[in-house]
Amino acid sequence: MGESYPPVQKVPLEGSKAQRLRFIVEKFTTEFSTKPQFCTRAPGRVNLIGEHVDYCGYAVFPMAVDLDILIAVGTNTTGKLNLINVDDSYPKFSCEINGFEIDKSCPAWYNYVLCGVRGIQEEGGKNEPFTGLDMVVSGNIPPSSGLSSSSALVCASALAVAHSHKLLITKEDYAEICARCERHVGTQGGGMDQAISFLATEGTARVIEFNPLRSTPVNLPPGVSFVVANSLAPMNKAANSYYNCRVMECRLACQIMAKQAGLAWKEYQRLGQLQKVLGKSLPEMMTLVSRTFESRPYSKKEICQLLSTSEEDLDKTTLSENTRHIEEFRLHDRAQHVFSEAHRVWEFKRICEAKNGKSVEELGKLMQESHLSTKLLYECSHPKLDKLVDLSEGVTYGARLTGAGWGGCMVAMVKEEMADEYKKLLVKDYFSHEPTANNKDISSILFSSHPSPGACIYEF
Ligand code: GLA
Repeated sequence: MGESYPPVQKVPLEGSKAQRLRFIVEKFTTEFSTKPQFCTRAPGRVNLIGEHVDYCGYAVFPMAVDLDILIAVGTNTTGKLNLINVDDSYPKFSCEINGFEIDKSCPAWYNYVLCGVRGIQEEGGKNEPFTGLDMVVSGNIPPSSGLSSSSALVCASALAVAHSHKLLITKEDYAEICARCERHVGTQGGGMDQAISFLATEGTARVIEFNPLRSTPVNLPPGVSFVVANSLAPMNKAANSYYNCRVMECRLACQIMAKQAGLAWKEYQRLGQLQKVLGKSLPEMMTLVSRTFESRPYSKKEICQLLSTSEEDLDKTTLSENTRHIEEFRLHDRAQHVFSEAHRVWEFKRICEAKNGKSVEELGKLMQESHLSTKLLYECSHPKLDKLVDLSEGVTYGARLTGAGWGGCMVAMVKEEMADEYKKLLVKDYFSHEPTANNKDISSILFSSHPSPGACIYEF
């Protein structure tokens, strides 16, 4: 399984990371009149395949990117948590470190730092009060772009708190703590983003499985490049209920199928859990979905009838706070997406590990199928993402939305020597028509991505 604690490294002296680290150290020194004790780093990720399946208990296939969150950290004696972001469009924030609230109703940047702090306080294995902390945060993962900037912030923050209190936590435990504590902002995310942020290894993507958390490195085919393009349609999953609505649709589909199989339906939260108990294969689960549901919306009332329960009870046992008002749920299409996508992840891994010439085309085809499924069955794409994917057809092996969707980024798999030409094509046919691209450095919205290492601590 490799080393089990996030590695401690010397601060690098050269390159763009070194420059950003120098900057946060200087800013820290100016703002807090003392030097930071160490810095933490947690990367964002791009998911190659396996979208919206982690919270159903199914494996995903992400790799960490070079973009990351860096935090300079020092303890103080005032009991305060003082947070400064180097981007001053994010306001400073300060609170008592022992005894703060996380306000779900406001999607503020510092809430993600607070989630990380809370996670370590709840599960880090320390009983006494926590020492005050000062932090200066720098991030270069574009926010609301599907590259997991918020989870990286949670992970870097948890690492900062635990390391300053000398708590020894394994990477796997960090990943699970961070997945749970991020739910304090109200989204019912799966564990993919936090897991890859801690478990990533340079040069390989990872298949990550859940319950229990496991991860396996997988070599990507030689001679291909993964290009990430930001559609520039922003998606902040904590600011609306689209994401949680999908989590609930999967949960409802699972509970209805469990009830029809004569199981105690309230004990079933995830489609993966149900599949295991029914002992069926993924294709068999797809057949079961087609036999159980029609491809149309189901009203809340009808769902209650199917479960022989009341709306009040359903609100309590199944639905999250921000989905209780929703009147209709699509069950067939959502569950079909999940089972077919879960199947594609294993196919993708199998093909990556097989050595034959046709494999890259087959991987591309799986990416195309995945995009169609997220667009048509899961309805989490966006016209701008679809446009990027359409423009990629014929020029790449395959392209798909990555992350939660409803905006954010697309990832395409392209022949290495075609990558520059492909990027030029996207600039000409997409970004030159996007007014919001004008004031941006193109390399921050369109870039080739290589598997980057996971979270670490930098000491001086
Ligand atoms: C977000 C969530 C992840 C995952 C993806 C969709 O990034 O944080 O847990 O559900 O969406 O695959």
